Amino acid sequence: MRKILIVGNWKMHLNASQASLLVHRLQENVKIYRDIEVVLAPTMLTLQPMSVQLDRRKFRLAAQNAYFKDEGAYTGEVSFTMLRDLAHYVIVGHSERRHIFGEDLPMIRDKVAASFRNGIMPILCVGETKQEKDDGETKQVLHDQLMTALSNLTGDEVERMVIAYEPVWAIGTGDVAKPAQAAAAVSYIRGYVKDVFGEKAAADVRILYGGSVVEDVIHGFLNVPGVDGFLVGGASLNYQSFAGIVNSTRRWQREQEGDNGE
Ligand code: 13P
Repeated sequence: MRKILIVGNWKMHLNASQASLLVHRLQENVKIYRDIEVVLAPTMLTLQPMSVQLDRRKFRLAAQNAYFKDEGAYTGEVSFTMLRDLAHYVIVGHSERRHIFGEDLPMIRDKVAASFRNGIMPILCVGETKQEKDDGETKQVLHDQLMTALSNLTGDEVERMVIAYEPVWAIGTGDVAKPAQAAAAVSYIRGYVKDVFGEKAAADVRILYGGSVVEDVIHGFLNVPGVDGFLVGGASLNYQSFAGIVNSTRRWQREQEGDNGE
């Protein structure tokens, strides 16, 4: 069974002391749930101190980005190799990296490969812009992004990674996708993985929804077969809203189990 995964992407927010305070509050307000994995993705600057502060039974760490070369004259960059003992996951191909920093499909492919080479799990983000959605190109965009990013991988690798469907028009806009839209995209992504990498990879790869996720909408997405959790931006910056998402996911799980107790 795929475990639910909830990732908080803090983007370029929170300095070291603000991050430390948020971690402190989250540790007080999030319990250990065996069937939910919670991951925090702070800025690069904060990964090291957070790795010391974090209760590893509750949280894992993700980096928001890394460069695909292992070392060398690349001013300003941090490699996957350097993140090896710090981060369990690295977010790759986030739309902000694609659109603001000009990361193209081959670069994202190389980052996914570098992630596996260094024993870190990639969280690969895919998703269409508003224009592409309006032009009916969502599946084509997902196809092109997946085909390139996964091209050098084995089924064994794909089954362990995470893919996040993040429609660009839903990111930071409050315009959250409808569960039916996420269902169509997630089913397309899983179908692609099945066609190219086989049944086992398709059954095991975890696929998240991201884009204006708040506590109120999560049950709608959790009810969609094949949605395995969330990549949360804005709502992960506040301990009440992020803990609310995690705790409400646990309530949903209990409802599925037919058990309303704590
Ligand atoms: P918001 O939740 O702020 O829309 O951000 C989503 C996102 O980009 C997470 O990676």
